[in-house]
Parts: sequence; structure tokens; C-alpha cells
Amino acid sequence: MTDTASTDLTGRSALVTGGSRGIGYAIALELARRGAAVVITGRKPEPLDEAAAALRDAVPGSVVTAVAGNTGDPEHRTDAVAAAVANGGIDILVNNTGINPTAGPLMDADLGAVRKTFDTNVVAALGYVQEAYRAGMKDTGGAVVNIASIAGLRPTGLIAAYGASKAALIHLTEELAWQLGPSIRVNAVAPGVVKTKFADVLLAAGEDVVGQTYPMNRVGTPEDIAATVAFLVSDAASWITGETIRVDGGKLATGGM
Ligand SMILES: NC(=O)c1ccc[n+]([C@@H]2O[C@H](COP(=O)([O-])OP(=O)(O)OC[C@H]3O[C@@H](n4cnc5c(N)ncnc54)[C@H](OP(=O)(O)O)[C@@H]3O)[C@@H](O)[C@H]2O)c1
Repeated sequence: MTDTASTDLTGRSALVTGGSRGIGYAIALELARRGAAVVITGRKPEPLDEAAAALRDAVPGSVVTAVAGNTGDPEHRTDAVAAAVANGGIDILVNNTGINPTAGPLMDADLGAVRKTFDTNVVAALGYVQEAYRAGMKDTGGAVVNIASIAGLRPTGLIAAYGASKAALIHLTEELAWQLGPSIRVNAVAPGVVKTKFADVLLAAGEDVVGQTYPMNRVGTPEDIAATVAFLVSDAASWITGETIRVDGGKLATGGM
């Protein structure tokens, strides 16, 4: 367990939701580099196929499959998990898709949008774990990582419904770790602001300006998150479960958002 190969993922089969760009793409790349066969998902088929091709180019010999669909659709979840199983079982699940359609005062929040946020960010993540469990993880064991947010650890006053959904995802991570151990480990990663399309609004003041509010003096990159996810799903993390690792350039260490 303590040998240098412990972060190697050769022979593992992984499913990364929302892998056509941003953090999910970087996670898929890192897992493929470490030897895992990877299934990626996303709603738009074309960019998803392009991402899968780019991943195969970046890691010669890698097995990367694209399954287009919406995380909120149970049939799509079944298809995506089946594609991972076709790679020899499902060992790794990364619930990366997340949406943030509502911001501002909670008193003005559209409850339909809030419901959709929880459905995608929390209920669908649980749906994916159920699907993976029933499709074989129950018998073979495995590792799940949920992509949360520091907005789920500390109120932002701005993206409040999103933050509440990520707090629920963090709690779900702990409950699942309890119920699925010892064979399945379930952890979460809570990023600070990471430079992706999703963060455009959060970076409106300018990347440098936002970066200066972080002890590490920069905002995050998708690769910063991918490295931690790859560690968590590997044997090197075999005694870590129910944990949420902040990957936030020290943001919460400053005490504020
Ligand atoms: N970027 C940040 O600052 C930040 C900070 C904290 C946490 N996070 C979390 O990190 C995760 C990834 O965010 P990101 O910044 O990488 O976002 P992104 O760049 O916008 O990428 C999102 C990915 O998910 C897919 N996707 C979105 N909604 C989907 C749905 N309903 N069903 C299936 N696929 C869907 C997108 O493809 P399609 O558009 O084609 O569906 C795309 O591949 C999210 O859970 C987010 O909450 C991000």
C-alpha cells in the first residue's frame, strides 16, 4: 500500500460526470494519465465527443468514452454507468456536474430554480451512486468523489441556494461513507474559485483582483482540483472516507469568503 505505485490507476474503470470542459475534463485527463479507462458525460454531444478525442490524443492508448445526456435524467445515468461497466466494472465515480442558475437574495429566489439546483447537485449525485452500487461497486468496492464547493462550507450571501445544495452534498458524502464502508470510500472536494466557464460571473471583477483575495495569490486551475481527486480515488487514500478536502488556495483559512 505504501509503495510508489499507490496512486497508479491502471486497470481501473472511472466515470466522470460533466467531463467536456473545466474541472471534469481535467479530472478525466488526470485519471486517464494514471491508467484508468474513463467515461465522460455532458449535455451537448459535440463538445463532449471533441473532449473525448482530445483526451485520447493527450494520453495515447487510453480508453475514453463519451456518453451524452443530462445528469438529472435517470435513463442517462443508467447508460453512463453501463458504459463504465463495459470497461470492466465501475471502480471510480466522480460526481462533478453542478449548476448554479440562481443568485442574489433568497427572498427573491425562484423556487423552481432552487429545486433544479438541488436535483442536479444533490439528488442526481445520489442517483449516480445508487446506479454504480447496483451495477457492481457493491461487490467490487470502489471510490466516489463528489465535487462540492467552499460555498457549501461558509455562507457567501450571493450564491446561497447553490451553497446550500453543496452543503447538502457534503453531508450526503458523510452519510454515504458511513453506509457504504468499508468497501466503498466516499469523499468530497470543495474548490474555491477555479478558472472555468462556470466561474465567469465570479471572475467578473478580474482574475487578478479575485486572486489577490487568496493566500496563494491566484485563483485555482482545473488541474489543482484534478490532482486531489486523483489522490482520493487511489489506494494512497485507502483510509480516507467521509472527508471533504478544501482545495481553495487557503481562502477559508483567512476566515472569510
Ligand atoms: N469553477 C469554480 O469556480 C467552481 C468552484 C467550486 C465548485 N465548482 C464545482 O465544480 C464542478 C464543475 O464546474 P466547472 O467549473 O468545471 O464547470 P464548467 O466549466 O461549466 O463545466 C461543467 C461541465 O458539466 C457539464 N454539465 C453541466 N450541467 C450538466 C448536466 N445537467 N448534465 C450533464 N452535464 C452537465 C458541462 O457540459 P454541458 O454544458 O455540455 O452539459 C461541462 O462538461 C461543479 O459541480 C461546480 O459546482 C466549481
